[in-house]
Amino acid sequence: MRKKIVAGNWKMNGSIELLNSLVPALAEEAKEAQAEILVCPPALFLNEATRLAGEFLQIGAQNCHEAFSGAYTGEISASMLAEMQLTHVLVGHSERRAMYGETDALIADKTKAAIGAGLTAVLCVGETLEERESGRTLDVVLGQVKAVVEKIALSDWAKLVIAYEPVWAIGTGKTASNDQAQDVHKAIREALAVISPEHADAMRILYGGSVKAANAAELFACPDIDGGLVGGASLDVDEFISICRAAS
Ligand code: PGA
Repeated sequence: MRKKIVAGNWKMNGSIELLNSLVPALAEEAKEAQAEILVCPPALFLNEATRLAGEFLQIGAQNCHEAFSGAYTGEISASMLAEMQLTHVLVGHSERRAMYGETDALIADKTKAAIGAGLTAVLCVGETLEERESGRTLDVVLGQVKAVVEKIALSDWAKLVIAYEPVWAIGTGKTASNDQAQDVHKAIREALAVISPEHADAMRILYGGSVKAANAAELFACPDIDGGLVGGASLDVDEFISICRAAS
């Protein structure tokens, strides 16, 4: 039985004020929750977030550099994140692919760096509207998944989570239907099963893209959906807690 995960991606939003109201409430929620709860605030707030998180709430970063250290002004390495008691890092979010030109090869290197540092990498994949409308959804998504998982030793797959986030559903209010999401999640699991059925069965695959309290329970009830990666709705404490409860 896979344990569900509900992850909040604040993106470049929030403030210390929001952190101080939201993180302690989630820390409380996480004590009793059956799902794992993860919050990914902006990098500058991570230290304070881990201080407020307590024993059960997990805190992650939204990005890391692929190198261990070096002359990369403005960047943060995975080992530095691990040193600050973080547990997770998002890699390959569609905003980073689209706006910062992140390629599958770079995302694979970031994933390796994250796992090498002891973090769990949350690998984000997803097709654009144009790719979906031209019937290329599975080609694109499975291509993005394979480009990374094939470079990760099977023994490290336990430190990998996949988040399927159709780009057309992110921040648009347009959620994929349960069937659309389940179909892609199932295809991802089947592609992983070609490499290892046992590891594929254990992989947590989250859905992201306009998840809210009103649609979370239905999505999370789909057999291959193991929780959610939540953007906008993770900035509202009541809404996010409702989503966490939908996964319990
Ligand atoms: P959204 O974002 O929930 O605001 O659509 C999800 C994400 O980008 O991770």
